[in-house]
Amino acid sequence: MRPIAALALCLALAGGPALAAGDTTPPKSVDWPHGGPFGTFDRAALQRGFLVYKQVCAACHGLRQVAYRNLNEIGFNEAQVKVLAAEVEVQDGPNDQGEMFNRPGRPSDRFRSPFANPQAARAANNGALPPDLSLITKARAGGGGYIYSLLTGYRNPPAEVKLAEGMSYNPYFAGRQIAMAPPLNEGAVEFADGTKAGVEQMAWDVTTFLAWAAEPEMEARKRMGVKVILFLLVLTGVLYAVKRKVWAEVH
Ligand code: HEC
Repeated sequence: MRPIAALALCLALAGGPALAAGDTTPPKSVDWPHGGPFGTFDRAALQRGFLVYKQVCAACHGLRQVAYRNLNEIGFNEAQVKVLAAEVEVQDGPNDQGEMFNRPGRPSDRFRSPFANPQAARAANNGALPPDLSLITKARAGGGGYIYSLLTGYRNPPAEVKLAEGMSYNPYFAGRQIAMAPPLNEGAVEFADGTKAGVEQMAWDVTTFLAWAAEPEMEARKRMGVKVILFLLVLTGVLYAVKRKVWAEVH
């Protein structure tokens, strides 16, 4: 019994100060339709989420791992993808004269970062770097639940908190002060399907979109998993029958 008590004491001592230093609210746990072993992405939410990314987040955040042609997978047809890609200017080159030039985007281009370099990004954002969002749902503890909580979590600071210049209060962010002003405001975008663009709706949709961006092959992976388990079940049955047959005469 003694070692267990000592271990419990150690854990309690180690856990105490760490909790106090962490000082963040744990993210909301969200039940995503794409969660669980059989979950699939909600196509309508993905398309709305893309719109939120494009019209709001893309002003500060890149999405470098995603190419325009990947948008096919969330239900945009080829003509739509071409139009979306052509909306942006992409630097290409060098040409025969050795010069770089700008051209309209193509479906094979990736989403570019809105800033020329990290220094420019920091200079425009009060010294803070807006991270690339391609893998963000994988890169943060709490995943999509954290992103959703962060986007919907802005509050007025409690009286005892003094915000540094240019910072906003968000209890889900480490340290509770974040250099990103609340990015979502009621009605910031207009959804083609008539869904009302409330803050929670937009946060839900854009988080779904970012979950897809981080793992576009998720549905294929889950389908493969189901097939593999079915195969193993059948194989187990066959092997069991063989075993019974082989050993039938041995007593
Ligand atoms: C005006 C610029 C701006 C816009 C628009 C913006 N962000 Fe940010 N974002 C930032 C900055 C700056 C940071 C870094 C904050 C910090 O480190 O304090 C950040 C950080 C983040 C983070 C990382 C938080 C963490 O845990 O490190 C996420 C996630 C995020 N933004 C998501 C979004 C989403 C989703 C949108 C669109 C709905 C969006 N942002 C729109 C500037 C912006």
